[in-house]
Amino acid sequence: MILDDATAFNGLKKGTIANKGIINNRMTNFLFKKLEESGIETHLIEEINDRDTIVKKVEIVPLEVIIRNIAAGSFSKKYGVEEGKELKCTVLEFSYKNDELGDPLLNLAHAYALELVTPEEAAHISKMAYHINDVLKKFFIEKNLILVDFKIEFGRYDGRIILADEISPDTCRLWDKDTKEKLDKDRFRRDMGNVEDAYIEVAKRIGLV
Ligand code: TMP
Ligand code: ASP
Repeated sequence: MILDDATAFNGLKKGTIANKGIINNRMTNFLFKKLEESGIETHLIEEINDRDTIVKKVEIVPLEVIIRNIAAGSFSKKYGVEEGKELKCTVLEFSYKNDELGDPLLNLAHAYALELVTPEEAAHISKMAYHINDVLKKFFIEKNLILVDFKIEFGRYDGRIILADEISPDTCRLWDKDTKEKLDKDRFRRDMGNVEDAYIEVAKRIGLV
């Protein structure tokens, strides 16, 4: 069951975003179907109602896989780059999925040393992440949305690595192409207001509501 609860900053900020569970459920399933059509295997089996989906039971790889097309968020802060700067190349980064440690950024040598993932799995994950970015970037720009960055997670299933978790305005930065207005969870994280409206706007542009 996907609810409307929202947290940020490792759970320090708590709130709700009305109906976001419904939007995130629909949007994730819609995008996962699209990705399946492009040859990316996902955990999706069947959406059974507004807030519930049957998925393959995976063992989650404890990595948050982040793709960045444009500088924003922690990248801008850490490296002193203004938000919105086009990056010279797409950035693929990994965080250790561990709430107690605050999901620290790590490199693949760290991940192998900690036995979070094997080199073979990481190679597969990296290739899939870039492919997912190509598909999503192209899809969103047709909806007048810039895919600034996003976080995805993968799972082990029957000896394979497949896409799991979600892809939604909670896990992507999406900006209006013309105005650069933020239409994602940053509105909640940064107390910008109109959070619900932003999620609905994204759902509308994709044709989900
Ligand atoms: P960041 O700039 O804060 O590192 O976030 C990069 C992307 O990852 C952004 O699209 C938001 C997403 N994200 C999550 O989905 N979950 C998280 O816990 C964090 C910190 C970021
Ligand atoms: N939900 C995550 C947390 O509580 C982070 C986020 O999306 O900002 O840390």
